[in-house]
Amino acid sequence: MNDFFATLRRRHSVRHYQSDMPVESEKLHAVLESALSAPSAGDLQAYQIGVVENAEHRHALAQETDQAFIEQAPVCLVFCTDAERSAITFGERGRELYALQDATIAAAYAQLAAVAAGLGSAWVGYFNSQEVGRLLNLPPNLQAIAILTLGYPAELPEPTSRRHINDVVFQA
Ligand SMILES: Cc1cc2nc3c(=O)[nH]c(=O)nc-3n(C[C@H](O)[C@H](O)[C@H](O)COP(=O)(O)O)c2cc1C
Repeated sequence: MNDFFATLRRRHSVRHYQSDMPVESEKLHAVLESALSAPSAGDLQAYQIGVVENAEHRHALAQETDQAFIEQAPVCLVFCTDAERSAITFGERGRELYALQDATIAAAYAQLAAVAAGLGSAWVGYFNSQEVGRLLNLPPNLQAIAILTLGYPAELPEPTSRRHINDVVFQA
């Protein structure tokens, strides 16, 4: 199997980080470039990515989400939809669906790029978008939809289970 499939297999949610090991700016840049390489509806890339390195902001995010490990990770990427950017071209479907899909697939690419770069990550979705927006002073057009923690792992997570392929795939 090639590197890509090995990368997929190596990705597990990392919730313990080596706080004293910063993420090198070249690696962070590579992760962000990978996010931007994702497909998007009409190539509009209807999202923005907040890079949170500031310790106070990470602390505030950890408190808000009630997920302490967020603070341990030296970097958090906050993926935000910019729904109106998609709505200009695609109307309601852009506003309600495409912007969310654009931001989500960008985050998924970033998560895999993090693995390829030797980093760990976890996808955090359980938070109040309005509160996160307030904490990070986001403009009203942006809605935070996912936080990716990034850093060097301080654990080797066990692989989690998956549904059987026959339970998920159907012939249509
Ligand atoms: C939409 C979404 C929301 C998630 N929210 C959280 C979260 O708030 N906190 C957390 O620790 N993990 C969260 N996760 C990570 C999942 O728990 C994790 O991906 C799943 O248990 C499978 O484990 P794995 O990532 O190690 O394969 C989320 C994942 C997704 C895709």
